[in-house]
Amino acid sequence: MHAALSCPAETAWPGPGAAARVAAMSEPVRFTVNGTAHEVSAPADTPLLYVLRNDLGLKGARFGCGSGECGACFVMIDGRAMPACDTPLWSAAGKAITTVEGLAQGGVPHALQRAFIAEQAGQCGYCLSGILMSAAALLRANPRPSDAEIRAALDRNLCRCGAHNRILRAIKRAAEALAP
Ligand code: FES
Ligand code: FES
Repeated sequence: MHAALSCPAETAWPGPGAAARVAAMSEPVRFTVNGTAHEVSAPADTPLLYVLRNDLGLKGARFGCGSGECGACFVMIDGRAMPACDTPLWSAAGKAITTVEGLAQGGVPHALQRAFIAEQAGQCGYCLSGILMSAAALLRANPRPSDAEIRAALDRNLCRCGAHNRILRAIKRAAEALAP
């Protein structure tokens, strides 16, 4: 698969260039993740993805391209699906962040998660946490999306396994389950 799948978020931090980043250390940044308040002290330009994975232990958002191109790292920020790899820590201040770990409530999987299982929508699964977050943001804004609207919402999420048709069916199934 993609060479960038060797994940810098898993490597020791700080890494190369740490001195410059430490020089840019910000005031503590406060935000919520999955409803829990957090305060993080790190260089202001640290990607939010690194903070989620390395500081907060939330490994659901994945590192793929590291440049906002593949969707593997998507999380919801104030309800919008965004690439955590391309979101600097400073810009998360005061925001409500939802990761794939926050989709289930009280131990009950989200309708999207149930639908993805029912449709077996995925193969390796690497893309799925990002796709789930894009789909969750879509259904939040548009509970009854058309096929074209689902495709447009997933435009920034790559699936190298080619599970697109099953993913589309799963999102439609979840929309039907959630619709009043
Ligand atoms: S890792 Fe590819 S968009 Fe973030
Ligand atoms: S990349 Fe493997 S299921 Fe999407």
